[in-house]
Amino acid sequence: MDLLFLEKLLLSLFFSLLAAIAVSKLRGRRFKLPPGPLPVPVFGNWLQVGDDLNHRNLSDLARRFGEIFLLRMGQRNLVVVSSPELAKEVLHTQGVEFGSRTRNVVFDIFTGKGQDMVFTVYGEHWRKMRRIMTVPFFTNKVVQQYRIGWEDEITRVVDDVRADPGASGSGIVLRRRLQLMMYNNMYRIMFDRRFESEADPLFVRLKTLNGERSRLAQSFEYNYGDFIPILRPFLRGYLKICKEVKERRLKLFKDYFLEERKKVASTTRTDNNALKCAIDHILDAQQKGEINEDNVLYIVENINVAAIETTLWSIEWGIAELVNHPEIQQKLRDELDTVLGPGVQITEPDTHKLPYLQAVIKETLRLRMAIPLLVPHMNLHDAKLGGYDIPAESKILVNAWWLANNPAHWKNPEEFRPERFLEEEAKVEANGNDFRYLPFGVGRRSCPGIILALPILGITLGRLVQNFELLPPPGQQKLDTSEKGGQFSLHILKHSTIVAKPRVF
Ligand code: HEM
Repeated sequence: MDLLFLEKLLLSLFFSLLAAIAVSKLRGRRFKLPPGPLPVPVFGNWLQVGDDLNHRNLSDLARRFGEIFLLRMGQRNLVVVSSPELAKEVLHTQGVEFGSRTRNVVFDIFTGKGQDMVFTVYGEHWRKMRRIMTVPFFTNKVVQQYRIGWEDEITRVVDDVRADPGASGSGIVLRRRLQLMMYNNMYRIMFDRRFESEADPLFVRLKTLNGERSRLAQSFEYNYGDFIPILRPFLRGYLKICKEVKERRLKLFKDYFLEERKKVASTTRTDNNALKCAIDHILDAQQKGEINEDNVLYIVENINVAAIETTLWSIEWGIAELVNHPEIQQKLRDELDTVLGPGVQITEPDTHKLPYLQAVIKETLRLRMAIPLLVPHMNLHDAKLGGYDIPAESKILVNAWWLANNPAHWKNPEEFRPERFLEEEAKVEANGNDFRYLPFGVGRRSCPGIILALPILGITLGRLVQNFELLPPPGQQKLDTSEKGGQFSLHILKHSTIVAKPRVF
């Protein structure tokens, strides 16, 4: 580092310290801010609370500071909401005020500064994107059009696992095969295409680039440049890698999927809605001038990040819990055998006749919520919440995991017990009809993909339990269910090896 830069840095640090003190004095007088640990200049609470603000750490802080608290992360305000009443206020009553998203330098790169749908602020562009995406992705018609494809994909998984001698012996990492299945489930909808095997070079490239994007975006490594803007020059190297990954990824979507589909569409009739895949509808919107090509690419990008891994994590958690609770696994198998008949393979319409399967899914999403803090919300303007002033552009985290795991609201919440959703919590649905249970959020920015995720979870877990006895690998009593959290994800730390013993009908 040259001396001039160091001098500039120290001067900027000094002035931002003065500014921080002045602002906090002014704010203290003007604003009634939510409670929280005492911030120090420049760093705020960052050094006290650290980087890993996962759902469990934030639940501990809620026990200390209450259902709403404020953390100053460098220059950023982070407001954490931990009660059903305040969650309702943020997501429903003041859904417009708190309906924007924060981005940071990294997300600005991956979303082209909010040209997508997931990370754009609440407003005209978001409304247009959500409208354009609804018909091709988020209706029951789409479920009915593609469920046969999803059933075919899980049939292939079952066949592959049955054919693998390792599966019933030392075990296999089932997740790998299920990942291919999830890509195929979504790529059938998007582009009416699938990948033949895990070794398909295009699939490998796609999976690697998506993995890189997730790692770079979810990492805590770049927090310092996000929280303390004058340190941003040190992020140059990191941001360069982000830009390269983003460029390569969008180019892959364009060259191998969009252009390919355009070719197919130009040689076959796609004026018949029944034959159209999602991207045909999206391209129609582009042709009408409603969106541009970048927006099209960011829609593909959003589906890649929002749909595939979230559903896969939930499937993976569901399997791990079923392996670790053999009595629950057997009860589910008994339900499938009784309602459908042994060996009669579950299909999407059956999922509605299987209350225990539904309860297993809900319990998985409760205890192992894939996005435990929802996607961060943001208020564009100064706002009020729970009697406090919330400065404009605060990042608002709703600790949905704590809402669903707080012993004040749930009986023995640490227990994996699907029966709760047939007994004391029988009225609670995953769609947000109860503000204690929001695995998909609720309100304007809630997950539109719930309509696809729930049947895919049902078909996948149902078929696996129907066709296999799922066990830990030899010599192991239980699977390791340690968690790993990112900026906003919760997945299993170690992808488990699982023994899948085929059932004979
Ligand atoms: C088990 C699987 C899934 C879970 C647990 C999940 C959960 C969530 C959550 C918690 C949010 C944020 C809600 C908020 O900020 O208030 C979200 C947003 C979103 N999800 Fe999902 N999701 C899943 C699957 C899917 C699928 C399959 C798709 C698409 C096909 C999808 C598309 C989206 C989109 C586009 C958004 C952004 C909505 C917006 O900002 O307006 N998700 N999801």
